[in-house]
Formats: sequence, structure tokens, C-alpha cells
Amino acid sequence: MGKVYYISKNVSLGILVLAAIALATIIALSIAYDKERAKNRGKPGDGGTGGSSTSPPPTTHFTPKEPWDRYRLPDSLVPVSYNVTLWPRLEPNTDGLYIFTGNSKVVFSCVKETDLIIIHCNKLNLTTFSGHHAKLSGLSEAAAPSIQKSWLVEKTAYLVLRLHSSLTVGATYVLHTEFQGELADDLEGFYRSEYTEDGVKKVVATSQMQATYARKAFPCFDEPALKAVFNVIIIHSRGTVALSNSRDIDSAESVIDGVPVKVTTFEPTKRMSTYLLAFIVSDFVSIQSNQNNNLLIRIWARKKAIDDRQGDYALNVTGPILQFYERYYNATYPLSKSDQIALPDFNAGAMENWGLVTYRETALLYDPILSSTGNKERITTVISHELAHMWFGNLVTLQWWNDLWLNEGFASYVEYLGADYAEPTWNMKDQIVLYDVHKVFAVDALASSHPLSRRAEEVNDPSQISEMFNTISYSKGAAVLRMLSEFLTEPVFARGLSSYLNTFAFGNTVYTDLHICVAVQNTQGMQIPDTVHNIMNRWTLQMGFPVVTVDTSTGTINQKHFLLDPESVVDRPSEFNYMWFVPIKWMKSGVEQQLYWLLEKSASGQEWVLLNTNMSGYFRVNYDLGNWDRLLSLLNTNHQALSVINRAQIIDDAFNLARAKIVSTTLALRTTKYLSKERDYIPWESALRNLDYYLLMFDRTEVYGAFQAYLKKQIQPLFEHFKTITENWTKVPTGHTDQYNQINAIGVACNTGVESCRDLIKTWYRQWMENPNQNPIHPNLKGTVYCRAIAFGGVEEWEFAWEMFKNATLASEAARLRSALACTKAPWLLNRYLEYSLDPAKIRKQDATSTIQSIARNVVGMPLAWNFVRARWSYIFQQYGEGSFSFSSLISGVTQRFSTEFELQELKQFKEDNLHVGFGSATLALEQAIEKTTANIRWVTENKAHVLKWLTEEST
Ligand SMILES: *[C@@H]1O[C@H](CO)[C@@H](O)[C@H](O)[C@H]1NC(C)=O
Ligand SMILES: *[C@@H]1O[C@H](CO)[C@@H](O)[C@H](O)[C@H]1NC(C)=O
Ligand SMILES: *[C@@H]1O[C@H](CO)[C@@H](O)[C@H](O)[C@H]1NC(C)=O
Ligand SMILES: *[C@@H]1O[C@H](CO)[C@@H](O)[C@H](O)[C@H]1NC(C)=O
Repeated sequence: MGKVYYISKNVSLGILVLAAIALATIIALSIAYDKERAKNRGKPGDGGTGGSSTSPPPTTHFTPKEPWDRYRLPDSLVPVSYNVTLWPRLEPNTDGLYIFTGNSKVVFSCVKETDLIIIHCNKLNLTTFSGHHAKLSGLSEAAAPSIQKSWLVEKTAYLVLRLHSSLTVGATYVLHTEFQGELADDLEGFYRSEYTEDGVKKVVATSQMQATYARKAFPCFDEPALKAVFNVIIIHSRGTVALSNSRDIDSAESVIDGVPVKVTTFEPTKRMSTYLLAFIVSDFVSIQSNQNNNLLIRIWARKKAIDDRQGDYALNVTGPILQFYERYYNATYPLSKSDQIALPDFNAGAMENWGLVTYRETALLYDPILSSTGNKERITTVISHELAHMWFGNLVTLQWWNDLWLNEGFASYVEYLGADYAEPTWNMKDQIVLYDVHKVFAVDALASSHPLSRRAEEVNDPSQISEMFNTISYSKGAAVLRMLSEFLTEPVFARGLSSYLNTFAFGNTVYTDLHICVAVQNTQGMQIPDTVHNIMNRWTLQMGFPVVTVDTSTGTINQKHFLLDPESVVDRPSEFNYMWFVPIKWMKSGVEQQLYWLLEKSASGQEWVLLNTNMSGYFRVNYDLGNWDRLLSLLNTNHQALSVINRAQIIDDAFNLARAKIVSTTLALRTTKYLSKERDYIPWESALRNLDYYLLMFDRTEVYGAFQAYLKKQIQPLFEHFKTITENWTKVPTGHTDQYNQINAIGVACNTGVESCRDLIKTWYRQWMENPNQNPIHPNLKGTVYCRAIAFGGVEEWEFAWEMFKNATLASEAARLRSALACTKAPWLLNRYLEYSLDPAKIRKQDATSTIQSIARNVVGMPLAWNFVRARWSYIFQQYGEGSFSFSSLISGVTQRFSTEFELQELKQFKEDNLHVGFGSATLALEQAIEKTTANIRWVTENKAHVLKWLTEEST
């Protein structure tokens, strides 16, 4: 799946400097978990639907469990192929229900003697044949045992058949079922998505099978290792088009049950897993190209989006990205076509169904006039991520979900390589440091983190499987695989991949198979201290990562498990005692040195030393003060002697080491002194993310003045730089990341009171107000400009934005405006906006909590939002508490500035006062808020005086 927990880049830039701070990431992670939990809890009727007997035969034993009480299928039966016919109805039936009907024949062989057939089946009403839920026969009319009894098990989602006698080992059978299911709007299995075009409501039937929802579309052996060939037929109304994983080979008009229909037959699929199936019926249209050796490449979307040419960009990059992977993997694209489709309702960001990839509209459709550079980059990386899976994940699939990190971590790493090939001028490969490595460091530095890899037995039921889709799997997986590729070198890694993909094509693997394939390719005899397997196990089987400390005066180097909170206690034991084999790339006096392996301790040189060049290893670095001084003075005199990544890393390491009390806060602040000379995005972004915590802690204190003055001094040259290169703001910088840094420059300059910045923004916004049909603001800058213009303006500016919000037709434009409306400094407007947020006629229900959070980001809005949430808690909880994705972040968002004893008391009082109401999915967030407030109080007490003194000295 694409990144479900995608934290958007360059979107927020709200009131404060930036959005994505370490804390935000931590919160995002806990939301992700909460969401999964909420999802799984919010399904009371999970399992079979009524209509058939759902109670198993009476069982009195508690142990051993019956096989149908276990979440994993028994290993006695193996599917070979399925013939599946599905007929979704895009109009409701007389009961007002959207349904689909279908039938399936699964051919399977018996590999262990058994008189039970257990197959997944969820929420399907099965037709009975002589009282049983299925028919069984031997292949080609051979005999099969007769069915004694059949029943459904809701909890484990099984159809169970008990036979009169055993199946014969080595024989092949056919199980035939007929069923009816609901085409619900639940975004799972075979579901429906609705949208309006020209005032007409349209319905699309589409699917999301990963991880455990194929069983909701037809009875199947729904585990990734049980691959089979699928012969799919879709029946659909005339005037619609049916898509599936393979190419259609026939489409005939017919009349079934008196209904005129089309019957579309697809060529047999390759041998594949059920979770990668896709079925879609819509009236979408497509654009196509055949540029890759006659491979059919199509982009599908709503007609209006295609007419507006919103699919062109995706089509342009797909061919090159597929070519890149063919070369990189040394393996041709395994299928005869590549379809990608943008859906109006979609839970994840995207899903890598083999040959028919599904996307959220924002992840596939690019509008050349209205979309920003950030939108475009997201499309490129998401496409690159999903297409990487066409081989890694789809052609070769992991045995079980416990190894999900390898699948998603891998795609999260190579997505940057594919995107770099498609857009070579964007420096995509550097960005992994900001968007994956630094992001996951924040989460993995907590005592509550967990290892990448889990044992297969620990992951059984659907909620345990869902939990695997988290930041650790995606981003740490990416960082660790990148490190493997860096120390073995890219050619060795790529040859290993190629051998892995060719050896296991159409099969399944466990993560150690990749280690073996990669290790075998290390024929050049790259010196490594142990086997690839043993080195990698230290990174995959224990959580966290080390901080490597080098003392250049004594020549010692050591490693220690890095924990952000020095007072936290790790209660998860590790067989490796939190020691890693650390591959260290390093530089001395600007010269790259031979790779050094830190196993325990060692020696080093005198001159300035820089460790972990280009952040190629997954660890943080600390130095003796002498070396820190040398690095800081290098930054101040000749920062370009270090790569952008290393500049960003020095800043990020120093700030995080300071949070962990390993170095002083002043040392961290000193890494930002050279920024007045910095023009590159990655170091600036890294600094602003880290300074955001300071801003939150101090923007209501006397430190704020000095903080603003210092930041203003640092940002001014950057602002002038962009003014010059954009010829007085009339052009867009050509460099991709320069466009992002221009947003930072304007945002920070305006916030810190750079006069010409304010004038610029006011002028743009005024021009737009005078001529609403002619927005002069570049899409890249809209979010930033709207927010500042509303902050500087009054009721008129606010009302204008409100009108524009109500009329916005593009979802991303509406989102920008909704967030900017929270930027006003007028308390009465903020209070009114808080009221609006709970009025579904004004703010869609799904956006309510995030609107309140935007208001709380605003220093003026924070106390108003807190009072509002406290006063309305029981109403908010009843209306928005259950099943809402963002609910838990409401508490974390509103309390993120809390740093006084008084606020801590208020928070505790709030908890006590509302115990009878409850906190639902925000329960954990409330506990965390209390914990974080306590930590903030401590941090502010310890650091405020030093910070104020340093900033005061530096800002004059
Ligand atoms: C499945 O469909 C294929 C193609 O139409 C056909 O050749 C095959 O016999 C069918 N299998 C079963 C078990 O009906
Ligand atoms: C399945 O059967 C139950 C009980 O008869 C009925 O309530 C439900 O609507 C049926 N579902 C579908 C999709 O037909
Ligand atoms: C797609 O490629 C064509 C041909 O190179 C180019 O003219 C067009 O501008 C591109 N479209 C987008 C949206 O990038
Ligand atoms: C690619 O694969 C072919 C055959 O499978 C092999 O002969 C060739 O050496 C491989 N090339 C690389 C660069 O691995």
C-alpha cells in the first residue's frame, strides 16, 4: 500500500513556522494505531451475515482450539485456480441496498489428509445446495467425498465444510459457491464510491483487498502465500467499463435475468496473491500510451478530470519509471498491461494491485494550473512506490504479514530512485533523509518503539496485520535497506535484487531470502565484519538505533542506544543488548575515508572528522566538543564543503542530542548560526522543524521577542535571495527544492516581521479580492499567502476567504483555505470559526477536528480552542468521537503548547471532570498529553534562561 500515514510536505506552514516536528510525527504514529484500532472495533457485525446458519457445531473444549477458531488457515489444502464471476449493481435494489452477486469455482489440491475444508468468507450470503453452502466435486468429474455439514464462523471469517470422508492427498477438487454481498461504502473488499458530476450522482464499484478483504468479495484462501491463477468475468451495465488485473479478452452484450448487460472476460492472471486482486466498474475514461515495447499503459479517472488533462502527468512519468525498474531489477515487467486509476473515495494513499493500481485522486491527478510543486512531487513518488511493488511484493511476495516491513520499506526506499529517474533535476534521492530517516528517528527514539521484524506467530488476526502498516515498517524499513545498499554498494545490492526476483518469481519468501541473494553477489569481496544476515538482524530484530560518539582528542569511538527522553526506561529486552554493527562512512579534512565498522570501540584522527556522510547509516552522531567546534566553524566559514544532507544532519543530530541531554541546548542553537549563508532547502527545513519546538514552548514568553529577532536576522538574506532570483517575485525558482525553500523564506520572513514580505502578501491578496476569478498567487505559495494575509487582515479578508472556501471545487484548494481561516488574530473571528467547526452545514464532519486543531496552532486561538473543547467535550465526544481518524489528535493538537504547572493542573482537572463521559480513541492521547506537558515543564525550566541569553546575544 502507499503511505497510509503520509505526512504531507509543505502544506501546513500555518501560523507557525512549520508543521512537521518530531512531536507531530509521534502523534501521527499513535493516530495511525488508533485509527486501525477504531476501524477494527467499529465493526460490531463483523463476519458472516445472517441468512445462513452461523453457529458452529457445539464445542465444549477450550483447548486445543478447533482449526476454524484459529486465524491462520490449516496447511492441508492449496488453491490452483479460481473462476470468479462478479456482477455489481450500481443502482440500489428495492430495499435500497447496493449489492453484488457472483459465483466462484476454486480448484484446489489436497496436500495433507483432511476431512475439513476451511476457506475464508466474510459478509457474503451464500446460496445453499441441498442444505449446504457449497458444492464439491473432483476435477474433471472425478469423485469427491460428500458434504456432511457446513457452517460459517464469523470471528475468523471462515466457511467450513465437514466431509463424510477424507480428501485424497495429491487429488484435485473443485469447490463451487454462489453468493450475494453488499456493495457498501466501507472502502473495504468490493465496495462502492460515489461522486457527483454535472449535478448527477455517479456510482463506481471498486475494491481494496489488502490485507484481508478479498474474502469479502468471494470465498477464497485469503493468505498471501496461497497464490493461484484467477479467471475473472465481470458482468456490468452497458455504458460502463470493467477493469481487473489482466487485459480483457472479450466483452459481449447479453441479457441476464431480463437485464441488458455486458459480460467482460479477462485473460487468466499470472499466479498471484488474493490481496492484489482488483475489480472496478465505472464510467471512467482513460488516456493511454504504448511507448514501452507495446506495453499498454493507461491512466483512468472521471471524465472531467481526463478532459482537463489531469492524467497527463501521471501518463508521462509511468513509462520512464517502468523502464527504470526493468533495468534496475534486470527483469521485464511481468504483465501485459499497466492500468492506474484515480478514485474519489479511497482509504489509503494508493494500492499496488497487480496491473491495476488504485489511487486517491490527489495521488494521481495533476492539474497544471492549480496544483503545486508539492502536489506534483507526491504524485511522482507515489506512482514510483506502487510500480516498484509490481516486481517486489507482487511478483515475489512475502510469505506472511509479519515481514511487511521488507515489502513496504523496500518500496519506500526505491521510490526515490524511480522518481529520480523520472525527474532527474529534483534531487529526489536527498529527500529520503527528511521524509523518512529523520521522520522515523523521532518515533524510533522512544522507549515504546518496536522492532521492524515480528515473528509470524505474533501476527494473526486482521487488527494485528493492520498494525504492521506503520511508520516503522515504511520509513525505518527504507532507511535500513538504504544502509544495506550503501555499505554493499548499489551494484551489488541491485544484482542481489535481480537474483531474488528471478529465483522466487511467482513465489513467496521470508526476509532472510533477500539477505542470501544479496550476500551471494558480494563477489568483489567487499569487506564486511560478519554475514549480511547477522549484520542486518541487529537492525531488524531490535528496536531503536545507536548514537555513535567519537572523541577525536582521545581517539575513542563508542555506541549507545539513543533515547530522546533520557529518563525513559526500556523494558523490551534485546538479544543483542542494543548493540549494532554500525557501518560508518566518514570524512577527514574533506576527504572520504574507507568504510569503518564500529562493533565496539576503536580509534580515530585529529583534524575535523565527519561521521555518517550523506546519512548513509541509520544512526545519530555525537562528537567531542573540540570536533563540534571544528564542524561549526567549518559551517560558518565554508558550509559548502559539506553536502546538504550532512548540513541537515548536523543540525538534526545536535537538536535531538540536546533534547536527550547529551549535548547542551546552546550547542544545538549554534548549528543554526550559519543559516544566514544557507540557501538550500534541506538544511533549512531541518532547522525549522527543530526550532518549531522552541517556538511552541516560548511564543507566549519573554523569549519570543529575542527568538523572532534572531530568526528575522537569519531569514532576511534568504528572503532577499529569492526576491532576486525570482526577479522581484515575478518568477518561480527553477530548482525543485528551491521552490520549497521559497515557501519557507516567505513564511518565516512574514512571521518575523520582515516589512517587505508583509507588503508583498497584502498586495497579492488584495489583487485577488478585487478580482476573485483571477488569482495572482502561484499555487506553491497559496497556503502560506492565504494564512498570512488573513493574519494581517481583518474581517474583510476573512469573509473573502470564507466565500472562496465555500465555492472551491478542487479539494486541495478548499483544504488550504480552511486551514488559513484559522490564522486570523481576531478572537471573535476565531470563536465564531470554532462554532462553525461543529456545524456540519459549514464544515464537513470529517474536517471538524482538524479545523479546531488549526485554530489551536494559532497562539491567539490556542486558549480559545482549549476552552471550547473543555466546555463542549461531551457533545464533541458523542458527535465526533467514534471511528474518527483524527479524533485523538484533537487532544494532542490543542495541548501541544502546554508547558506550565497551571496548564498541567487544568489538563488533569479536565480528565477528572470528564471521566463519566469518556475519551474513546483519545484516551491514550490524553495520557500522552499529561506526560508531554510534564516533560515540557521540565525542559522549559532547564532551558529557558540559556535560550533567552543566547538568542539575545545573537540577535543584536
Ligand atoms: C475456468 O474457466 C476456464 C476458462 O473459461 C475453463 O477453461 C475452465 O474449465 C474453468 N474451470 C472450471 C473448474 O470450471
Ligand atoms: C444477507 O442476508 C441477510 C439476512 O437475510 C439480509 O439481512 C442481508 O440484507 C443480506 N445481504 C445482502 C447483501 O443481500
Ligand atoms: C507530458 O509530456 C508531453 C510531451 O513531452 C508534454 O508536452 C506535456 O507538457 C507533459 N505534461 C505534463 C503535465 O507534464
Ligand atoms: C541480466 O540478466 C541476464 C539474464 O537473466 C544476465 O545474462 C545478465 O548478466 C544480467 N545483467 C545484469 C546487469 O545483472
